[in-house]
Amino acid sequence: MAKTILITGASTGIGRSTALYFSEKGWNVAATMRTPEKGADLSDYPNIKVFKLDVLDETSIKKAIDDTIRTFGDIDVLFNNAGYGLVGAFEAMTQEQIKKQFDTNVFGVMNVTKAILPYFRERDGGTIITTTSMGGLITFPLYSIYHGTKWAVEGFMESLQYELRQFNIRVKNIEPGAIKTEFENAIEFVSMDVYKDYAPKAHQNMLDGYKNAPTGEVVAAKVFEAANDNSFRLRYAVGGQSPMLLFLRRVIPNSWFFAMVRNVVEKGVVKKSMG
Ligand SMILES: NC(=O)c1ccc[n+]([C@@H]2O[C@H](COP(=O)([O-])OP(=O)(O)OC[C@H]3O[C@@H](n4cnc5c(N)ncnc54)[C@H](OP(=O)(O)O)[C@@H]3O)[C@@H](O)[C@H]2O)c1
Repeated sequence: MAKTILITGASTGIGRSTALYFSEKGWNVAATMRTPEKGADLSDYPNIKVFKLDVLDETSIKKAIDDTIRTFGDIDVLFNNAGYGLVGAFEAMTQEQIKKQFDTNVFGVMNVTKAILPYFRERDGGTIITTTSMGGLITFPLYSIYHGTKWAVEGFMESLQYELRQFNIRVKNIEPGAIKTEFENAIEFVSMDVYKDYAPKAHQNMLDGYKNAPTGEVVAAKVFEAANDNSFRLRYAVGGQSPMLLFLRRVIPNSWFFAMVRNVVEKGVVKKSMG
């Protein structure tokens, strides 16, 4: 019987690429999204069904899981992928913006994960794959809150894997570098006057990193590897600079790593009292 993956945030980017990739490999795909009209064309594929799921709405999560099981008979893999970036000067961000970022990127992942666990326990196994980021293990300027969410998910999943192993439930994190998707367009950038010499330029330097970035297919292939390698391996770095930067972070002193990041991201930034 064909296996089934349920993907969150499948309207664009990595989620959509993963839906198409798994479908080509013969999997059943529940491509879930908060606005199903955005991915309506995915329903043209015989083994893809589009369901409504907003990671902030627990009723929609439960319904999408039930609909997937009713349609395909099973769920083998949950792919927690929905997310976006709140970027800029921390001081300038409202509590509402910060809360929405954590709600989506952290509590959204927890909501969907919690909803699938009883089903995975009952069927004696399953795989939970989550798009964290290389930014779940390293940091860049202006991404403090986004990193806060991704580091939270890395820690959450790293701990969760221990208690779920007894139920044959695998926990896997996909850690992409810069990937060409809608992510950069969806970034919510926030600044204020006192950061005017720093934030816009540093932000632009970060965005420049997307210019030659690979597309979502490279991540989709890595998700496929994680779904099929029958291992309990937790981390999969993929795309652009991710494997190299994560390696460097492990082997060089923090101060060298931070200097390297400043050199790249603060290039052209007006250097006033920056030491
Ligand atoms: N692109 C990168 O460089 C990069 C690097 C590392 C990690 N990531 C992570 O990869 C994941 C996918 O991002 P992407 O690059 O593919 O960007 P994307 O093209 O903007 O896709 C993001 C997806 O998340 C969905 N989403 C946002 N809020 C949601 C909610 N409340 N409920 C359900 N879906 C929601 C979006 O839906 P709508 O269409 O409705 O907005 C969209 O489908 C994110 O978790 C992101 O943090 C991206």
